[in-house]
Amino acid sequence: MKVKILGISGSPRHGNTDILVKEALKGAEKLDGVETEFVAICDHKIKSGCISCYRCKSTDFERLCLGVKGDDGNMLMKKMMDADGWIIGVPVYWGASRPSSRP
Ligand SMILES: Cc1cc2nc3c(=O)[nH]c(=O)nc-3n(C[C@H](O)[C@H](O)[C@H](O)COP(=O)(O)O)c2cc1C
Repeated sequence: MKVKILGISGSPRHGNTDILVKEALKGAEKLDGVETEFVAICDHKIKSGCISCYRCKSTDFERLCLGVKGDDGNMLMKKMMDADGWIIGVPVYWGASRPSSRP
């Protein structure tokens, strides 16, 4: 039986986050029985935020958000549910490290 690992790059561009997630997937592929898939969210239209429909919590029908039909977020959610594991890369923008005045 195959184990499927989904790699997701959350970068708004094809940059370092893509590279790092792909490298992690390469490592996973070295293990027997592991297959991988890579998705860069910048290639998709994911516009809607969570609308608290709770459909994603259901186990007896497809876990697609009712309120965001046509949004690629549904495609991504399905891929996530079909995978056995995820590797998620998220770039740090505006972490805004600065000298702290606190002790
Ligand atoms: C506007 C901007 C703000 C950033 N802020 C931070 C930060 O606060 N902390 C940090 O460690 N890196 C910061 N970075 C560096 C990014 O994390 C780094 O460039 C990373 O490679 C971005 O991922 P990407 O190549 O997938 O876009 C910042 C980069 C940009 C362009």
